[in-house]
Amino acid sequence: MRAAARYNMTDHTGNPDAEHISVMRNEVLDLFQCKPGGIYVDATVGLGGHSQGILERIQPGGLLIGIDRDRESLDKAQVRLKPFSGSYRLLHDNFKNLPLILNNLATRPVDGILLDLGVSSYQLLSSERGFSFQSDEMLDMRMDRSQQWTAADLVNNISEAELADIIYRFGEERLSRRIAAAIVQERSRAPITRCAQLADIISRAFRVRGHQGIHPATRTFQALRIAVNEELEGLEELLLEAFGFLRSGGRIVVIAFHSLEDRIVKRAFRKLAGQCVCDAPPELCTCPRQALACLLTHRPMTPSPEELAANPRARSARLRALERI
Ligand SMILES: C[S@@+](CC[C@H](N)C(=O)[O-])C[C@H]1O[C@@H](n2cnc3c(N)ncnc32)[C@H](O)[C@@H]1O
Repeated sequence: MRAAARYNMTDHTGNPDAEHISVMRNEVLDLFQCKPGGIYVDATVGLGGHSQGILERIQPGGLLIGIDRDRESLDKAQVRLKPFSGSYRLLHDNFKNLPLILNNLATRPVDGILLDLGVSSYQLLSSERGFSFQSDEMLDMRMDRSQQWTAADLVNNISEAELADIIYRFGEERLSRRIAAAIVQERSRAPITRCAQLADIISRAFRVRGHQGIHPATRTFQALRIAVNEELEGLEELLLEAFGFLRSGGRIVVIAFHSLEDRIVKRAFRKLAGQCVCDAPPELCTCPRQALACLLTHRPMTPSPEELAANPRARSARLRALERI
C-alpha cells in the first residue's frame, strides 16, 4: 500500500489545497510594536500573512521590504498585499543576501526584521513541488525553482555515506544508515523520482509501522529538504550581519521549526547579548562579553493553546526575539 493511502494526505483542516496560516502572528506583531512610518524587513514573506499585519500598522509612511526565494509564494503575497501598494518592495531572493539588499536600498536603519523559517503549508501541501511524503509528486523540494539541484538529484547521486550523514545530521534520524542503505539498494534497480516511492522505501526500512508517533519518512524528508535548500548554511552569520542594520531599539524576531535551526538562532542571539556560547568552564571562557543587544525571550516562546487548537502545524514553532541596545 502506498504511504499516501496509509497516512492522512490532507492538512489538519482536511483541505488538501490549504494555504498557510501565519504562525504566532500576534506575538510577532506585539514584539515589533509597529508604528506609522516604520521600516520593517520580512525576510520570509511566504504568502504575506505577517507582512500584511506589519503593513496595516506602519501606515502612513512606512515601508516593508519583503523577501522570499519562492517566486510562486511571492506572486501570491503580491496579490494579498496589493491594498498597500507603494508601501512595500517584494524581492525574489535568498535572505542570505539581506545585507546586500539593504545596502543597495540605502534605507535608514530598520525597526524590525522577521525570519519565519522553513516552508509554508502552501509549499508543503499545495504547490506540487514535491516537499511532502504524503504526496505522489515528483521528488523536488526546491524552494527556488531556478536552482538546479533537486531532492531526486541528491537521492540518486550522492554516496550512501553522504546520504546517511545528511539524514542523521539534518533529520536527527537514528536509523539513518539503514535508510541510506535501503535507498541505495532501491536506486540500483531504478531511479527514485517520486515522493511516495521514497516514503515507501523508508517505511519498509523501518520494518515496523510508525516511529515515535510520526510517519517514518518525516525526519528523512526534513533532512533532504534542509540539504537541498542549504537551509542551515550561513544562518548564524546572516543573523549577526542583519543585526547591524537595526536601529537602536530595533528588534529581530525569528521563528524556528526544529531544534537544529533553533540552536543556531539561540547561539547567534546569545553572542549579540554578550553571553557565553562555549562549553568551557566559566574560568576558561573567552567569549566576548560586550552586549550589543538584550534578549527579549530568555526561553523561546511557543504558540498558545488557542493557536495550537486552530493550527496544529504550529506545534513545533519556537520564537526568539532580541532588541538592539
Ligand atoms: C514559514 S513560511 C513563511 C510564512 C509567512 N510568514 C506567512 O505569514 O505567510 C517560510 C517562507 O520562507 C521562505 N524561505 C525559506 N528560506 C528562505 C531563504 N533562505 N531566503 C528567502 N526565503 C526563504 C520559504 O520559501 C517560505 O515561503
